[in-house]
Amino acid sequence: MREIYLKAPAKINLALYIKGLREDGYHELQMIMQSISLADRIKLKKKSGGIVVKTSHVDLPTDEENLAYQAAEIFFEDHPEISEGVEIYIEKNIPIAAGLAGGSTDAAAVLNGLHLLFKKRMNYESMRKRLEIIGSDAPYCLEGGTVYASGKGEIIEELPFIGEKYLVVVTPSFKISTPKVYKLYDQLEKRYDSDFEAILDNLKNDNKINWNLDFKNDLKAAAEKICPEIIEIKDIFKNTKAKFTMLSGSGPTVFSIYSTRKEAEKVAAKWPRKNDFVTVVKTIDKY
Ligand code: C5P
Repeated sequence: MREIYLKAPAKINLALYIKGLREDGYHELQMIMQSISLADRIKLKKKSGGIVVKTSHVDLPTDEENLAYQAAEIFFEDHPEISEGVEIYIEKNIPIAAGLAGGSTDAAAVLNGLHLLFKKRMNYESMRKRLEIIGSDAPYCLEGGTVYASGKGEIIEELPFIGEKYLVVVTPSFKISTPKVYKLYDQLEKRYDSDFEAILDNLKNDNKINWNLDFKNDLKAAAEKICPEIIEIKDIFKNTKAKFTMLSGSGPTVFSIYSTRKEAEKVAAKWPRKNDFVTVVKTIDKY
């Protein structure tokens, strides 16, 4: 086998609770993560030596800054016996710096894909450990699905799949710096007590999501302050039949969930803000 093709799905957050600031500067989180059908496509091709990254997106770095490049570096560090290298081609469909884990999912797919391409064994648990170095949500991206993530986001507990739901995902062209959003959150820190356990209990034990529970994103106020377009997008969703609307991760992506694909397509087709990235996707199970 000389080459391999991979799919790297994006994620959304159905809930993002911040429990506090840790000594290492990271935040202690409780999140519900969910994979969606929006995905990058990746091709890995063996080459004589070294790592080369090519992408379909001009704004994406192709050097060590690229998380897929970092994943390949980790793989070759772990396997000094391999003399060949790899060319990584990323067809970028997930908006960059958008709160959809676009970089982390590429990294997870590349680490997994290189094991397959070079026929090296490694279990998911060990791969998740290696992916922690790359980003807090990279371990989740290895398998995706509906998950309860805690710690920095790297501690994963699988939950029952919430089922196929249709979403409209909207990303304004504004790129958000995740550290900046967390920093502003620390300054604003307008927290209110709410019950994450109730959400976990609902997702674990009931076969219907209770959208009246507090599926909040604690980064909302900070992200909206940095990118007020988020508020405009939410206002547009408010006038639709959305069951649920929320900011994903540190933003600026906002998504809404609809009862049917048709309803979601209607909203996307009439989207009034012309410079936004707008797509209709569905939730997907563990891959
Ligand atoms: O881990 P990752 O590189 O994705 O995190 C990007 C940035 O987001 C961190 O440098 C940190 O500023 C912030 N972050 C945080 N707490 C987390 C995860 C991320 O403060 N649990």
